[in-house]
Amino acid sequence: MDNSFSGKKIVVGITGSIAAFKVAGWVSALAKEGADVSVVMTESACRFVAPLTYAALSGNPVLTDMFAAEEAHAISHIQLGSEADLVVIAPATANTIAKLAHGFADDLLATTVLAASCKVLVAPAMNSAMLLNPATKRNIKLLKELGHGIIEPVSGQMACKTDGPGRLPEWDDVREQLLASIVEQDLQGEKILITAGPTREALDPARFLSNRSSGKMGYALARTAKRRGADVLLVSGPTALFPPHGVKRLDTQTAEEMHSTVMDNCQDMSVIIKSAAVSDFCPKNTMAEKVKKEDAEFVLKLKQTPDILKELGENKDKHGYLLVGFAAESCDHRAAGEKKRIKKNLDLIAINDISGKNTGFEVDTNEVTLLDSSGFTKLPLSSKEDTANLILDRVVSLLARKKD
Ligand SMILES: Cc1cc2nc3c(=O)[nH]c(=O)nc-3n(C[C@H](O)[C@H](O)[C@H](O)COP(=O)(O)O)c2cc1C
Repeated sequence: MDNSFSGKKIVVGITGSIAAFKVAGWVSALAKEGADVSVVMTESACRFVAPLTYAALSGNPVLTDMFAAEEAHAISHIQLGSEADLVVIAPATANTIAKLAHGFADDLLATTVLAASCKVLVAPAMNSAMLLNPATKRNIKLLKELGHGIIEPVSGQMACKTDGPGRLPEWDDVREQLLASIVEQDLQGEKILITAGPTREALDPARFLSNRSSGKMGYALARTAKRRGADVLLVSGPTALFPPHGVKRLDTQTAEEMHSTVMDNCQDMSVIIKSAAVSDFCPKNTMAEKVKKEDAEFVLKLKQTPDILKELGENKDKHGYLLVGFAAESCDHRAAGEKKRIKKNLDLIAINDISGKNTGFEVDTNEVTLLDSSGFTKLPLSSKEDTANLILDRVVSLLARKKD
C-alpha cells in the first residue's frame, strides 16, 4: 500500500505566530519526501518569516494574495483547496482558528480551506492563556465538529517564557498525523499487539545477557499499523527508540516480564505480531552482588525462558487472534522458517536473513521472506518501514480471508 507523501499535493497554510519558523523544517521534510508542497501565507505570517524561505524549501512560489488572479502563473482562490490531497494550517493562530470556525473567507488561506474537498488539519500554536481562553476552546471544538483534524499542541516553555500548552509538536509526531490522514485506514477497528526489541537477563547488578536487536523492525510495525488506523499496543524490551505517535507502550526488561505482559494483554487482540528477540535462556541464579574481577572464574548456568510464541500459538484458537512471528536465521532460512511456522501454530512468519550486511539487527533496512499457508514471498531489500507495510498488507489480506 502506498504509504508516503510521494506525489501528494499538500497545501501548508502559515499564519502569524512566532512558531512560523518551525514549519520551515516541516515544509523542507515534506518536499524531500516527494510531496508537491504549496505554501499559503497570511499577511501577518509574512511579518515573521519571509515568503522566500518557504519558496526555496518547497520549490514552489508562495501564495499570499487572493487578488493576484490576473498574474500569468496565478492560481485561483478555489483551485488550491479543490486540488489538494491535504491542507495543513500550521502554525494556526487564535485569529485564523476563529475565522475558520465561523466560515470566514477574507484571505487566500481561509478561502482555500472553505473550498477544500480533502482533509484539513489545524495545528494551533499560541500562548497558553490564549489557547485556554473559552473563546479559543470553543472555536477548536467547532473546527472538530466541521470535520477538521486538530494537531494537538504540546506543553513546554513558550516564546513568552511561560510554561504551558500551546507549542507545536515535533515533526516526527506531526509526520505520523499527516500520513494517517492521507493513507487508507485499512486496519481501522483492529487491535494489534506488537512486541519489539531485545530482552535483558541480569547476571549480577551490573551485567546482563542480551542480543543485538535494536527494536527498529517492531517499532516500524507499530508506527505503520497505527498510521493505517489500528489501535496498537507495543510491548517493548529496552531500546533507545521513542514510542511512535499514538501508540501505547509497555516497557519490559526480561523474557519473564515480556511473557507476563504479553499474556496479560493478548485476550482481546485481533492480531499479535511478535518481532521481539526474546532471550531463549536466562541465568539460573542472578548474583546479588557484582561479581569481582579478582574471582578466579565466573561460571554461568543457564535455564530456558518461557516460550511466548509457542504459548500464544496454543491459545490462538481460544482467543481468535491472527498470529505473526519472526524468525532470525543465518542459514537455510526457508526450511527453518517453515518448521517454526508449523511448530508454533503461526498464521504468518517473517523470515529475517541476518547474514547480510544490510539486513536484520541494528540496520535501517531489511530483506524478509514471508511464509504463510499459501507459500513463500520474498520481499525486496527495503527500509524497515517499507518492509513493515508489506507485512501489514499481508496481515490485511489474512484478516479478510479469516472473516470470509
Ligand atoms: C511577536 C508576536 C508573536 C505572536 N505569536 C502568536 C502566536 O504564537 N499565536 C497566535 O495565535 N497569535 C500570535 N500573535 C498574534 C497574531 O500575529 C495576530 O493575532 C494576527 O492578527 C494573526 O493574523 P493571522 O491569523 O491572519 O495570521 C503574535 C503577535 C506578535 C506581535
